[in-house]
Amino acid sequence: MKVRYSYLPQQFQDSDDLWSDLKSFVSTGDFTLGKPLDEFEKNFANLIGAKFAIGVNSGTDAIKLSLKALGVKPGDEIITAANTFVATVGAICELGAIPIFVDCDDTFCMNVTLVEEKISKKTKAIVPVHFTGYMTNMPDLMKISEKYNLPVVEDACQSILGSINNINAGKWGTTGAFSLHPLKNINVWSDGGIIVTDHKDLDTELRLLRNHGLKNRDSVEILGYNSRLDTIQAVVGNWILPKARSISEQRIFNANFLDSKLSKIQGIKIPPRPKNYRLVYHLYIVFAEQRDELLNYCIEKGIEAKIHYPIPMYLQKGVSFLKHKKGDYPVTDEHCNKIITFPCDQHLDKEQLEYICKTVNDFYES
Ligand SMILES: Cc1ncc(COP(=O)(O)O)c(C=O)c1O
Repeated sequence: MKVRYSYLPQQFQDSDDLWSDLKSFVSTGDFTLGKPLDEFEKNFANLIGAKFAIGVNSGTDAIKLSLKALGVKPGDEIITAANTFVATVGAICELGAIPIFVDCDDTFCMNVTLVEEKISKKTKAIVPVHFTGYMTNMPDLMKISEKYNLPVVEDACQSILGSINNINAGKWGTTGAFSLHPLKNINVWSDGGIIVTDHKDLDTELRLLRNHGLKNRDSVEILGYNSRLDTIQAVVGNWILPKARSISEQRIFNANFLDSKLSKIQGIKIPPRPKNYRLVYHLYIVFAEQRDELLNYCIEKGIEAKIHYPIPMYLQKGVSFLKHKKGDYPVTDEHCNKIITFPCDQHLDKEQLEYICKTVNDFYES
């Protein structure tokens, strides 16, 4: 049996209505900003429970523009997770700011108990990453943010509709940054991103920043970027957004199924699943003994398992100027050797999920 990783060929299969929406849209010529984008922003803000949503051209820019709007300048320090995807760090460094890493815990998110010791006079913001569809411990992080008066930009790129105590990812911080990249739970057909916030002044600033700083056709208020969410992608977004809840429900269902079977296998450890957290399983990751052998075995048996990620961000060549060395973030290091990602998306059937569990079981029993 084959259990493929990418479900993209299936995701837009039954989409005749989308094609007719696109056809009507093209005939309007409303290709820059415009009505479909307004609609998408309103619906996205409603989905998260935020007052405002601002479409931008990627999740990376959603982080970068948020930090820029908060006044981050070259040399400022931004506290973030040591084990994130490169984009978080790239967004910080693009502004000339310095990422200050915090190690993660077994939730794959930053260990919030380690944040305070990283705060210095140069700290300007905290960027927690809700990695894998997990949630950073936001109740505790927001206490630190209030104590030190530091804004929080949530990197919620992997965690749309994740929540703690029914408060959604993106709604805790000063802003929340989401990605609509094809590989994300809610995806469009190209790059795309969106920022949510409850602050009117930030909404105004972010709308300027994403559109060259233009107040109107003729007046440049500030220097900004060309970072609009493509209006065609907003049409696609309007088609997929009503499916957001059912997509995450199905992922949660699949993850619970995998948890229930894999937890019985000696050699596999399931990460913590706190009751008041809603995890949305952008990635379904467990800890495995003999991880590399298990990975090869699964691939041989037709299961496209993966590692997210084998080399931690803080040790990547591209950030060698930060002068970190192996061992600086021991939990992140340990994870790199133990984690394995299995397919868990909404298009898998029960047979495929059972096959994953059986294959893992066979590996440890053989
Ligand atoms: C944790 C994290 N942050 C930021 C991003 C950036 O998103 P995008 O690819 O839309 O720029 C991603 C996407 O891959 C991500 O996984």
